[in-house]
Amino acid sequence: MIKNYCIVGTGSRAIEMFAKVIIHEYKDVARLTALCDSNSGRLEWANNLLGGDIPCYTDFEQMLDSVACDVVIVVSRDDTHDKYIIRAMERGKDVITEKPMTINDAKCRSILRAEKETGRNIKVTFNSRYAPFKAKIKELLLDGIVGDIHSVEFKWHLDTVHGADYFRRWHREKEKSGGLLVHKATHHFDLINWWLDLEPVQVAAMGSRQFYVPNRMPGHGERCLDCSVKSKCEFYFDVTSDEMLREMYFNNEKFDGYIRDQCVFSEEIDIEDTMSVIVRYPKEIQLTYALTAATPFEGWQVAFNGSKGRLEAVEPEAFISEEEQTDFSTRANIRRRIDWHTAETGDDKPLDSYQIRFYPLFGGVETYTVPYDGGGHGGGDERLRDHLFRGINSDKLGQMAGARAGAMSLLIGTAANKSIEENKFVAIADLL
Ligand SMILES: NC(=O)c1ccc[n+]([C@@H]2O[C@H](COP(=O)([O-])OP(=O)(O)OC[C@H]3O[C@@H](n4cnc5c(N)ncnc54)[C@H](O)[C@@H]3O)[C@@H](O)[C@H]2O)c1
Repeated sequence: MIKNYCIVGTGSRAIEMFAKVIIHEYKDVARLTALCDSNSGRLEWANNLLGGDIPCYTDFEQMLDSVACDVVIVVSRDDTHDKYIIRAMERGKDVITEKPMTINDAKCRSILRAEKETGRNIKVTFNSRYAPFKAKIKELLLDGIVGDIHSVEFKWHLDTVHGADYFRRWHREKEKSGGLLVHKATHHFDLINWWLDLEPVQVAAMGSRQFYVPNRMPGHGERCLDCSVKSKCEFYFDVTSDEMLREMYFNNEKFDGYIRDQCVFSEEIDIEDTMSVIVRYPKEIQLTYALTAATPFEGWQVAFNGSKGRLEAVEPEAFISEEEQTDFSTRANIRRRIDWHTAETGDDKPLDSYQIRFYPLFGGVETYTVPYDGGGHGGGDERLRDHLFRGINSDKLGQMAGARAGAMSLLIGTAANKSIEENKFVAIADLL
């Protein structure tokens, strides 16, 4: 049976993750019946890119009144997800939503209530669960390799290309993204919840903006394009240099004032770049988590300490492509590959596999190797899409996430934000 999908939000994620593939790769099972975005210019650009014959709407209700739709795919700005998720379900549609499901606890409660009242279904696109490396960790934990888990250590590093980009656009405002502890860390908290198969109990956090601060670039302007200090700024970003950036964002600024190259050192930014969180889970399991948005290279590390030993996984961002290594011509935009196991920069020897190591308590080491086979977000995007559009017979690792999982991950971020503001522990139950 062919299902009808409408997409709301026609930015980069919508086009690359959903629209193009529905039209081509999944055309035997899916039909893209309409696009919706509040920016009429970007909507038109998206439609032209996709062939030019998809009905387009700036009004969501009008779209649902006009076209066949079984499922709404929500890929708009984070703070707008709740209104589309809820209205879609009230209009009898199921929903696929990008992460974070929403940005705070009040909106989260409304979504959970609407799902219950309407009986419709929400799927949250936690692509990370589908990346083979992370799925292998889940398999090993399900096999009980570390015994009873006592604690988890998780560190995530965003380099000066990836990290800085959150400070250029809407992500830099908590009221639009929830800050990085919601927008970005929802992936990470979901992984931990899923790996442990537990829901969080209590959260405490610290967070501050230490790197992307105004005095790092005195005299900076509001945006890169016309900045008087651009020639000496390591973070200069030319929004007109790349065809996609120019056509998707720059050419459509006039419709809604969405500026893609705002200064990463602006005074108005209210998100943190350096964050630490501790989370208590049932059975007294403790998580320590750190997120840093300005490191020399990308990557993450996780470790599980348990009654039988310690499981460690490290993802060096050794898989950055040649094109990705240098872009937009500034020093901060040159990406470094690094092999964390040897701490060497690995520009001429990209890795071809991931490794997971288990250290039994009293000696030895067991190594598990997961081949790297490319694809978006460690291969997670393609596998998630297959599951969403074609379905699969079994989901033995429980990779498909629903609204409850969407809530549990974003509520850790929300609780962490509250903890930073109010300097106290926050109970997840109080936010539900
Ligand atoms: N799962 C992942 O790995 C992943 C990766 C990237 C982005 N995302 C998510 O995808 C979503 C889109 O991100 P993006 O990078 O494409 O951002 P983007 O800024 O490129 O696109 C956002 C789009 O939303 C539109 N929009 C803003 N307000 C709107 C409103 N009220 N109604 C309708 N449309 C509105 C904008 O005009 C824009 O076209 C975000 O929720 C983001 O968190 C997920």
